[in-house]
Amino acid sequence: MKILITGGLGYIGSHTAIQFINAGHEILIVDNLSNSKLDVYKSIKSITKTDFSFEELDLCETKALISVFSSFLPDAVIHFAGLKAVGESVEDPIKYYDNNVGGSISLLKAMEHSGCHKILFSSSATVYGVPEYLPFDEQHRLDPINPYGQSKLMTELVLKDWAKSKETNQAIILRYFNPVGAHKSGFIGEDPLGVPNNLMPFISQVASGRLEELKVFGSDYDTRDGTGERDYIHVEDLSRAHLLSLNNINKIDSIDYFNVGTGSGYTVLECIKAYEKESGKNIKYTLAARRDGDVSISYASANKIKEFCDWSPEFDLEAMCKDSWNWECKTSI
Ligand code: NAD
Ligand code: UD1
Repeated sequence: MKILITGGLGYIGSHTAIQFINAGHEILIVDNLSNSKLDVYKSIKSITKTDFSFEELDLCETKALISVFSSFLPDAVIHFAGLKAVGESVEDPIKYYDNNVGGSISLLKAMEHSGCHKILFSSSATVYGVPEYLPFDEQHRLDPINPYGQSKLMTELVLKDWAKSKETNQAIILRYFNPVGAHKSGFIGEDPLGVPNNLMPFISQVASGRLEELKVFGSDYDTRDGTGERDYIHVEDLSRAHLLSLNNINKIDSIDYFNVGTGSGYTVLECIKAYEKESGKNIKYTLAARRDGDVSISYASANKIKEFCDWSPEFDLEAMCKDSWNWECKTSI
């Protein structure tokens, strides 16, 4: 198939691009480089030993996007492009609605124009908000608590109406839990700008000495050791979920929603311990106050995607830490 990947030079998009190339698909990446580097394009080509096209373009530029679609004529789109910093979304919500919702609408216009009817969309567990029960299943109430999460939910709603508007339209919404890890080559991985907000990249940078110490946000949660618990998923498992979902897209009517997580959670202290083991480094940390907006525990019921496309995660926390450390060692030199 011909697959157009938006945001394909970013963290999850780049790993997914490799999986699709290796599976024999022809891909084209569209990315405005707002949170990625051109080097990733070279890395993907060198890892896959395959040449493919890249367009540096903002999704909001509908006219230019239509022209890219008209010449590539994709069979399907995988839509990763979006901004994802929760704190920034609170400070500048319009930027998030403009880029994430506006960019998605522009994308759908270009798809309509070129007769492309299939899309996979990167949504997030953040659309559920505070858990009413656990594990989160796809029926859980949707109530995001910040503009980033709202922009994901709004895009889901736009896609729902789009999918139902024509018999040929099909959309798969993948709600990711906490993607971590890196490609086993160590040549691509998560490369956050500035000080990382998320746990795993922060731990990596403490391990390599780029950052001094980790603050553990909250040690009085109702969990095994009092620290926050999350469902971490290896980015390679997450990427493979895209490949299998697209292979099975004709099983769905118009739109369907799938959690992508492992179904089990690890606490912050468990992550630190696992990372210390894999890296052989001491991770310095202090216990600090809870972070605003954090929930105590979040993990997925991943049964639906398992049944839909026979996907199940292959990598455990050890592998996530090992691959993350391999990437950190290569980038922090
Ligand atoms: P990322 O920032 O590494 O990748 C996103 C890519 O999209 C970047 O390369 C960026 O330059 C590009 N981009 C952003 N806006 C664009 C626009 N208007 N036009 C063209 N390109 C644009 O993020 P990621 O971690 O790879 O996440 C991919 C998607 O998955 C995002 O939509 C994110 O919201 C979603 N998601 C991520 C996580 C996570 O923890 N990483 C969790 C849940 C959902
Ligand atoms: C964060 C985002 C969420 C997004 C998700 C995807 C917030 C409030 N939420 O969620 O919207 O979908 O990432 O990646 O930003 N922790 C520390 N110290 C740190 C960083 C994190 O103790 O320096 C703890 C957190 O309190 C939490 C756990 O580590 O218990 C995981 O945090 P993080 O990686 O930021 O992910 P989420 O909180 O799940």
